[in-house]
Amino acid sequence: MTSTAHAVRSPRQRLEMLDTPCVVVDRTRFEANLNRMAAHARSAGLDLRPHAKTHKSIAVGTRQTGLGAIGVTVAKPEEAMVFWRAGFKPIFLAYPPVGEHKLSRLRPAFEAGDLIVGLDDTGVAAELGAFATRNGTTVPVMFEVDVGMGRTGLPSGRAAADAALAVAQLTGVRLAGIYAHEGHAHGVGRAGLPAFSREIAERLRTTAELIRAAGQTCEIVSAGTCLTSWHLSRDQGVTEIRPGTYVFNDVRTVVDGGAEWDDCAATVLATVISRPDPARFVIDAGSKTLTTAFDETYGYGLIQGIDGARLARLSEEHGIVTLANPSYDIRIGDRVTVVPIHVCVTVNMHRELFVIDGEEIVDTLVVDAGLLTR
Ligand SMILES: Cc1ncc(COP(=O)(O)O)c(C=O)c1O
Repeated sequence: MTSTAHAVRSPRQRLEMLDTPCVVVDRTRFEANLNRMAAHARSAGLDLRPHAKTHKSIAVGTRQTGLGAIGVTVAKPEEAMVFWRAGFKPIFLAYPPVGEHKLSRLRPAFEAGDLIVGLDDTGVAAELGAFATRNGTTVPVMFEVDVGMGRTGLPSGRAAADAALAVAQLTGVRLAGIYAHEGHAHGVGRAGLPAFSREIAERLRTTAELIRAAGQTCEIVSAGTCLTSWHLSRDQGVTEIRPGTYVFNDVRTVVDGGAEWDDCAATVLATVISRPDPARFVIDAGSKTLTTAFDETYGYGLIQGIDGARLARLSEEHGIVTLANPSYDIRIGDRVTVVPIHVCVTVNMHRELFVIDGEEIVDTLVVDAGLLTR
């Protein structure tokens, strides 16, 4: 019998060993992105409660809290429970939990006092309060303010303040604060973001002041995305930011002024599978890999390093790339990298992300809450 006195070191995994399509994360850029936002939050006097929808990964969330984040934000109860079971607390569920299915799913986290719930309706708050009371607990809630996106939330000012005050009177819930998502920052343009962000903060500050003037505390005032967070600070009346996309960035974030191309940490690695004519090649990444997120200029993703290449069309498993220069030497079997238009939805389609340092694979990030939408 032979003994193995020394652990056998596995050979270094290299990029070329990866099957495609897959998502690779550049470690240097990823770490820089994490550190930059953490440093910004610190210097602006803001708590950082990043939205985990971008990575849906316990490993990434752990890096964020390790760098000072006060917890994570999630959109859906299933996601909340993945992070809660992994020990994250508090978790901000920035989504109204409507119906018994949702409340039951969340019960263990409610009972442990580890969830803050976002909502924009006194009826939803009353149901949550009744559920909490039946389970012998009180749930902290944040009332959602619409600062112009026109999604959920009541308009900033009197409407949101009065509804938040009504919620504060209910049993089983406690008003912890207010929050807004200014997703309409996409489209404002890089130059307009500082003034836009100040206005968002002002709307929230005014709403919080109306609540406080009625004798009700409003501890948390929460806003901030990958575009606006950079322009927010505590002296504007905001107490925390919830950026999500900043961990990886993508075409949208760069085009809309929240990052530079060199900050894009996640790309889809794909293989050329067909070269049917000189002006076109086809990759093995389609809508089931990249999703159908689209940009007028860049198409379905930015093909890196090939001038004049445009990811012009997608089938489910095919990406059709047109070439401005048909003599470009690209062959079947070659590999290309694509910066996603909207990285959050791309990551959601993958089980793991491969972290690379140059050509070497140095880590794997599991997308623990991928595809969970309930
Ligand atoms: C409620 C809420 N908060 C924060 C974010 C984070 O935004 P971003 O990914 O642009 O940083 C989102 C994004 O959808 C959101 O819906």
